[in-house]
Amino acid sequence: MGKSVNVYMFGIVALVILILSADFVCYLTSGSSVSVLIVILAYVGLGTYLFYLACRSFLPADFTESGTKTFSVENAREEESLPDLWEMTLPFLYDAQYVESLIVFLRERGVGSVLDCACGTGFPSIQLKRAGFDVYCSDGSEEMIRRFRVNMKKTGLDIPNRVLRWHDLHKLEKRFDAVLCRGNSLIYLDSWLSNEPSATNFLSNAPVALRQMRGVLNARGFLYVDSISADEYQRGPSLVEEFGERIVNDLPMRLTWTVKHDWKQMNRIVRSARRIGEITFCHDYRGFLLKHEELQNMLSAAGFSRVRKIKLDGERAYDVYIAS
Ligand SMILES: C[S@@+](CC[C@H](N)C(=O)[O-])C[C@H]1O[C@@H](n2cnc3c(N)ncnc32)[C@H](O)[C@@H]1O
Repeated sequence: MGKSVNVYMFGIVALVILILSADFVCYLTSGSSVSVLIVILAYVGLGTYLFYLACRSFLPADFTESGTKTFSVENAREEESLPDLWEMTLPFLYDAQYVESLIVFLRERGVGSVLDCACGTGFPSIQLKRAGFDVYCSDGSEEMIRRFRVNMKKTGLDIPNRVLRWHDLHKLEKRFDAVLCRGNSLIYLDSWLSNEPSATNFLSNAPVALRQMRGVLNARGFLYVDSISADEYQRGPSLVEEFGERIVNDLPMRLTWTVKHDWKQMNRIVRSARRIGEITFCHDYRGFLLKHEELQNMLSAAGFSRVRKIKLDGERAYDVYIAS
């Protein structure tokens, strides 16, 4: 049961109290039998509501018996938007060490300009801008960019940005020393919001997307792209990842991922369970089950001649590739 239902219940009780008080006054002044009936009905209504409240305090209302609330992307949006969900996940995946080592890595390679073409809500582009890089942000989702703009405003930084699918990167007039497609974004190609990845769509569109990323690189530029780790494949097809506890939005929160590799549908399903106190909120992220060899083949097909895997301190979740 959502916020709207609680508001609805509030409305009902307010109405009942209003009728009750108005009619009580009427009854006292006129004593008509209709007024008596309305007063009785109002009392019955109020009694029912109080009974409901009493039941609620004993039952885990809003939640199933196990205390787990599960929602799909559609009804998640009603309560917590996808940017909300993603921002609550980020503190579990990355810390200051990752940002530091990314900055060092980029500086060592003489990078000045960076395009984060899957910038999401702004991690780590905002930190990169603060560190002095000339950053441009784009993302295919209007919802994510809207949140990015809010986050950017809070920092007082000015980062050029636009809603742009990877297919349309050629519309950018600039060229960059580094293009980032990170946070395991590639596997969510055009399916981040719908949460319905299609293998056919991915296999035909990912090479085009990678070619577009290559197209906005300077002559000596490189693409930073990350994907499902080799370790995850070794531990799969079903594994549990405990991320421990963090303080998120002022609340102690625990995160557990149950990852499933569905080889039939070529889907990677991450059941993300956030536990706050006794309540667990679940959300499924579905992406394409991308193997490393396949990513490497796609990068070659997109025109990258040198592809290598790198290690970055603080990157615990994904494998990182540098393609040039
Ligand atoms: C897992 S989120 C990662 C966001 C960000 N990189 C981070 O680490 O916080 C994946 C992002 O890829 C974006 N995306 C998916 N398909 C895209 C496409 N075809 N073009 C541009 N962005 C896309 C989504 O909108 C989403 O913001």
